[in-house]
Amino acid sequence: MGAEPLLRIEKLVKHFDVRLGAFGERSATVYALDNVDLDIMEGETLSLVGESGCGKSTTGFTILNLYRATSGKVVYRGQDLVKLDEKAMRPFRRDLQIVFQDPYSTLNPRMTVGEAVGEPILFHKLATKAELKGKVETLLGDVGLPARFAQRYPHELSGGQRQRVAIARALACQPKFIVCDEAISALDVSIQAQIINLLLDLQDKYGLTYLFIAHDLAVVRHISTRVGVMYLGRLAELASRDALFEEPLHPYTKALLSAVPETDPAHERSRQRQILQGDVPSPLNPPAGCRFHTRCPIAMEVCGRIIPEWKEAKPGHYVACHAVNTGQTA
Ligand SMILES: Nc1ncnc2c1ncn2[C@@H]1O[C@H](COP(=O)(O)OP(=O)(O)OP(=O)(O)O)[C@@H](O)[C@H]1O
Ligand code: SF4
Ligand SMILES: [Mg+2]
Repeated sequence: MGAEPLLRIEKLVKHFDVRLGAFGERSATVYALDNVDLDIMEGETLSLVGESGCGKSTTGFTILNLYRATSGKVVYRGQDLVKLDEKAMRPFRRDLQIVFQDPYSTLNPRMTVGEAVGEPILFHKLATKAELKGKVETLLGDVGLPARFAQRYPHELSGGQRQRVAIARALACQPKFIVCDEAISALDVSIQAQIINLLLDLQDKYGLTYLFIAHDLAVVRHISTRVGVMYLGRLAELASRDALFEEPLHPYTKALLSAVPETDPAHERSRQRQILQGDVPSPLNPPAGCRFHTRCPIAMEVCGRIIPEWKEAKPGHYVACHAVNTGQTA
């Protein structure tokens, strides 16, 4: 992992204006992302976890400027991407890619695999038509597919093979950074392991940096350099993988981790589970103060009034919780 961040995300905010009611007669704001500060270091796998709707995908999309930030900065190579229009973004698009859960959403059913993988190469003028076939075959080789797959259509492939094609397409422009948004979640467990190993091999080979969004904490523990925990559009905690799993500080992280079964039965019997009560409140009307206070087992009076500061509690271990500041523990 490099010493300099590849991407510096500062006070990133994303609100969606939506229409509510049967006829869309009421306008409202979804507070999807609120003041997220994050450095993504070159060569690392930074995972984002948290319950559904907590803003993981919105973070990925807003970093890539696929959603326009409401405010804040995303600094890449000295340039704030938030300020760029689509044309000015184009040279950066090559470096910053995304792989989705459902490869059907990125693969045109009428394009062969070869056309799908070759399209970004032609778009960014990275090869002549004569060179294209060789480039596509190399990329297919990189993702473990034989060259003859270039002639096939997405519907002729298995889910795992389609995801390999989506990865080859993301790799086509020699990117620096890839958002993997639930990229393995829809696959069978045995195939998931293959795609994870492929992502790790490609990271080694090409020095890639990943923002890895996932629900499966066992996978996150296996793959991550650092892990960020999100709750209702805010970062609750960020730490190295080992610190986060072994010494979590935030009550929400503790509750999330306590839902994962231990592999060691003795440990499993002896530990105390913390069950998360209730649902995540609506991002249309998030709780004041700490957004977790309506579900937190150790909430204090201050928690409902004042937003906890994002602090470095230990070297490299960041957390937003009044109880951590005052030395209490969950
Ligand atoms: N395009 C959009 N328009 C309006 N609201 C949106 C849009 N995209 C996301 N949201 C809302 O923003 C909030 C955060 O959504 P997001 O998809 O980022 O969550 P997530 O953590 O990725 O969830 P999941 O684990 O289910 O994928 C949710 O309340 C969601 O409904
Ligand atoms: S700030 Fe308060 S409510 Fe929020 S997690 Fe910490 S103790 Fe719980
Ligand atoms: Mg998502």
